[in-house]
Amino acid sequence: MDAPLLKIENLRTYFYSQSKQAFIRSVDGVNLEIARGETLGVVGESGSGKSITALSTMGLISAGPGVISGTIAFQTNGVQKNLLQGLENYVKLTEQDGKVMHVSKNVVGWEKHSDRIMHKIRGKEIAMIFQNPKASMNPFTTVGKQITEAIRLHTKTKDPLEAEDRAAYWLKQVKIDSPRLRLTNYPYGLSGGMCQRAMIAMALACEPSLLIADEPTTGLDATIQSKIVDLLVELKGELGTTTMLISHDISVISRLSDSVAVMYGGTVVECGPARDILATAFESKHPYTTALLTSIPSEQNIKEKGYLQAIEGDVLDTINIPLGCRFYSRCNRVTDAIRKKCESHEPDLREISPGHRVRCWLYFE
Ligand SMILES: Nc1ncnc2c1ncn2[C@@H]1O[C@H](COP(=O)(O)OP(=O)(O)OP(=O)(O)O)[C@@H](O)[C@H]1O
Ligand code: SF4
Ligand SMILES: [Mg+2]
Repeated sequence: MDAPLLKIENLRTYFYSQSKQAFIRSVDGVNLEIARGETLGVVGESGSGKSITALSTMGLISAGPGVISGTIAFQTNGVQKNLLQGLENYVKLTEQDGKVMHVSKNVVGWEKHSDRIMHKIRGKEIAMIFQNPKASMNPFTTVGKQITEAIRLHTKTKDPLEAEDRAAYWLKQVKIDSPRLRLTNYPYGLSGGMCQRAMIAMALACEPSLLIADEPTTGLDATIQSKIVDLLVELKGELGTTTMLISHDISVISRLSDSVAVMYGGTVVECGPARDILATAFESKHPYTTALLTSIPSEQNIKEKGYLQAIEGDVLDTINIPLGCRFYSRCNRVTDAIRKKCESHEPDLREISPGHRVRCWLYFE
């Protein structure tokens, strides 16, 4: 079997809070992998570390004192490359009594090193679409110029007129009307939905091997949201681009994903084939996934409960991560047989059936 296009192992991205003299453990031991041609849906409530996982993969965590460790193995030109190789040399931790008191980072060295690794990868081999398309585009440059420049920078097409033709082609692919005319528009001249289509066109025009879409529909009107999801479904059928799709909206995830990773408190608590993870009737699930699925306002849920059921309990404090299972304080499935373990030991992410892994003591008895 081919090696996955992207394999993230034990990724930890911590931000150091000088005032609290403690790490905010935004991403705390994430493992995930994406096979070529597959769409991996990453789902989890706000603050669970989805975006920081994506930004770490793009080499975009550089500001301020932070620490990244683990491996992000990416296949490029038939070779596997660790996108974090050597970054640890630019961070120095000062510890006292086992506690990190200070983090100093050679920001310039870190950025130079990261740019060296990411130079031919970011934008070209891994492209990203963000939640807020207007903020991600340059307001002072026409849409056409931005896409044309990206094409000339990241693909073999260097001729300006040819690149412009390609830009118009991609605007047409994302169903933007009068693409030639739109090339001359500035981003503020486009509606939110249209701007997101232009962002998608710009990302795809560079023919990336991996597309990361971080909440591509959040922030758009509901009708526009569903049109963008329709577009992504269509593009997936046509192009089959390997995609990491991040969303807290399970309906978006379920329409597009082949496999799913569920994140909670900075880590993956369950992953596997989308059909297993998202099927409400499928019994072997992490209790957090069950809670997430019950919180979707499905017709049946609305009929039975009449409201959107929120997941009870507070979002995890990523500074004071508990010793045991991080979902313990909100879990309603702890039994007497496993309570001690749930309280004191964090379970591993273990395979319970082929390709399906769960981080929960319930399945290891
Ligand atoms: N630069 C930073 N400094 C300190 N903490 C940060 C920083 N960026 C993010 N965090 C924290 O890291 C955690 C994870 O953030 P992240 O943006 O990855 O969440 P998310 O799952 O994408 O949430 P959402 O669904 O709201 O987009 C949050 O608690 C956030 O406050
Ligand atoms: S390990 Fe225990 S506390 Fe954690 S999700 Fe499973 S049953 Fe709940
Ligand atoms: Mg996010």
